Amino acid sequence: MDYSLLYLLGTIFVCLCVPLLIFLVGRKRHGQRYEGLPQGKLGLPVVGESLEYLSLGKQGKPEKFVWDRMQKYSREVFKTSLLKEKMVVFCGAPGNKFLFSNENKLVISWWPSTITRIFKTMEGSLQLRGVLYEFLKIEPLRKYIPVIDYMAKQHLKEKWCNKGQVLAFEELKNFTFEVVCRLFLSVEKPETVATLLKHFNCIIEGFFALPIDLPGTTLNRAIKASKTLQTWFSAIIKQRRMELTQKGEAAARDILSHMIVMTDTEGLFVDDMDIATKLVGLFVGSHESTSTTITFILKYLAENLHVYEKVFQEQQEIAKSKREGEPLNWEDIQKMRYSWNVACETMRLRPPVGGTFREAITDFTYAGFTIPKGWKIHWNAYTTHKDPKYFSNPNEFDPSRFEDGAPPFTFVPFGGGPRICPGREFARLVILIFLHNVVNKFRWEKLAPFERITCVSAPTPEEGFPICLKPHVNTIVH
Ligand SMILES: *[C@@H]1O[C@H](CO)[C@@H](O)[C@H](O)[C@H]1NC(C)=O
Repeated sequence: MDYSLLYLLGTIFVCLCVPLLIFLVGRKRHGQRYEGLPQGKLGLPVVGESLEYLSLGKQGKPEKFVWDRMQKYSREVFKTSLLKEKMVVFCGAPGNKFLFSNENKLVISWWPSTITRIFKTMEGSLQLRGVLYEFLKIEPLRKYIPVIDYMAKQHLKEKWCNKGQVLAFEELKNFTFEVVCRLFLSVEKPETVATLLKHFNCIIEGFFALPIDLPGTTLNRAIKASKTLQTWFSAIIKQRRMELTQKGEAAARDILSHMIVMTDTEGLFVDDMDIATKLVGLFVGSHESTSTTITFILKYLAENLHVYEKVFQEQQEIAKSKREGEPLNWEDIQKMRYSWNVACETMRLRPPVGGTFREAITDFTYAGFTIPKGWKIHWNAYTTHKDPKYFSNPNEFDPSRFEDGAPPFTFVPFGGGPRICPGREFARLVILIFLHNVVNKFRWEKLAPFERITCVSAPTPEEGFPICLKPHVNTIVH
């Protein structure tokens, strides 16, 4: 072989490959695989990719939207356009971790325009959020355990026991709403509860309505309902403030009283209108997601009899340890470990809230891509909940996977970081207490085995989840 040819090849190699290697190594060191925006499609003008997002939700495949794009573009982050906004979707546990730990530093919370129009001052003061957190922690909530237990028993006695079959989802929506009315406001009168429910349903419909505020539109009705409720709530607040001044803390009997007597970090009382707005938000946030979760627990228990048996055993043990008529207490709740794993597995497969939104308050880099200031950001529970890397056989219902807990930032039905759902302890109590009562009374079977599940906002069984009830014989049911 001619040495000069070898020399030439060597020179070419050095000239071409060495700079390329240096470039590659350098790029890797700086973590900059790609300069500029994340990959992805912005879709059609205005509607963007919203139609596909909605249509997959309607077909009950909400995870398909994110997973198709994660496979096509990147498992870390991709861009799209939803809700008339340019948006990037942060994926996986690193995406969740990044967003939850950069709250108010790089990102702030953002709501679709329909929601901000319904609530106007949705954010309220940050201090009020702190007050709420304090109150919705498990400690102050514990004393309501017997109340929830009593309400669950009453509900089952009046609405389930005398019937062979029920529309479980419909019943549960009413049940959780009654619990929220009682615990938050001490409202028990059925007519008042019914009126409030009507207004709240208007509000929830407005979330996903077309963003058109003209007389007669869904959004318009939702805005009116929200105003009516805020006025109604502030009247109650005024009256309650008077009672509390006259009778002192003895009159503190529900969450509202606690919100009123609590002061913020500067020792000031919280503004009435702020409380009213926050209450409307809390009502919306707590009752629908809780009833959805209980409904899907009942569904998975009907489909997985061995899981039902284990929940039943656990709840029977607790029932056996009690005197007749003795209500549940905090120790009992702590014993419901397997039942809570069942609830977690249900929320993993069917998160009642699929994700929320943030807005970039400055330009920043994530995974080598630029996220421009003003762009909206979406995190989506399905990007981790359905990832086989975190949850093997992700479509299988297997509560035992929660025995050792889930890896950090992978199980996020309540979000995370400073904006983690303040109602999560409340939801846990209502779910477990209802489950205790329902499994100790019945087995059940699905009456619509092929019922479609849609998932436009929360997962929804289209026929209201009709079930046929089979009361136990020879078991402890008190
Ligand atoms: C739920 O409550 C509303 C209002 O109180 C009532 O009209 C409706 O019939 C209830 N639904 C069920 C399934 O009981």
